[in-house]
Amino acid sequence: MSRGKFIVIEGLDGCGKSTQLRLIKEGLEQYGKRVYLTAEPTSYETGKYIRRILSESLIKDMYLQAALFLADRLEHITHPEFGIEKYLNDGYMVVCDRYYYSSFAYQGTASDIDWVMRTNLECERVLKPDLCIFLDVNPDTCKSRIDEVRDKPELYEKDVEKMHQIRNNFLRVFDRLGDSHNIYIIDANAGVEEVYAKVFEKIKMIIQKG
Ligand code: TYD
Repeated sequence: MSRGKFIVIEGLDGCGKSTQLRLIKEGLEQYGKRVYLTAEPTSYETGKYIRRILSESLIKDMYLQAALFLADRLEHITHPEFGIEKYLNDGYMVVCDRYYYSSFAYQGTASDIDWVMRTNLECERVLKPDLCIFLDVNPDTCKSRIDEVRDKPELYEKDVEKMHQIRNNFLRVFDRLGDSHNIYIIDANAGVEEVYAKVFEKIKMIIQKG
């Protein structure tokens, strides 16, 4: 059985990732693929601790935050039963809601971005995705969507200026990674179906590459 592909979907909070992830799963299944949909932060212990930090807006040092996300990621990859590596080896298409690009954009402030990138990219256990799709939506739109659905915004959902800054961080990081990563920035301000069509086109490209 051939190894599956590892696909990452990134974007700001409120960019419509959840809807696209659901459609991607359905689309891949119609294509005859087995799909493992997963997300970071995880539901493991470190992931739960991270969720508490986010929902209670606990102030933590950026290095500590980045280290927690990395620890959570390592468990996400290597878990013997539910790990990304295991599913890929079993031939699944693994579609992950956020990955290390989020750490670079959210935890990578001016002073520590190099460290955040190095610790993730140079760690042998940390898998490199086959494809990363960034759903690019205007941060003002994201913020209004969040405000509609959340009683209490999480740590990175409070401030629209911060969301603009995070989007810029993503774009800067993608630029910096250049062609060494298979990254596509998709204008996701349009309707759901239109965005999905663009997303699935990229996914088909990596399936057909074999
Ligand atoms: P999100 O995908 O928004 O999950 P949910 O919709 O369940 O709240 O992710 C939660 C937050 O985690 C989001 O604000 C981004 C943040 N995050 C980081 O700051 N660094 C990371 O490395 C990851 C994976 C997520």
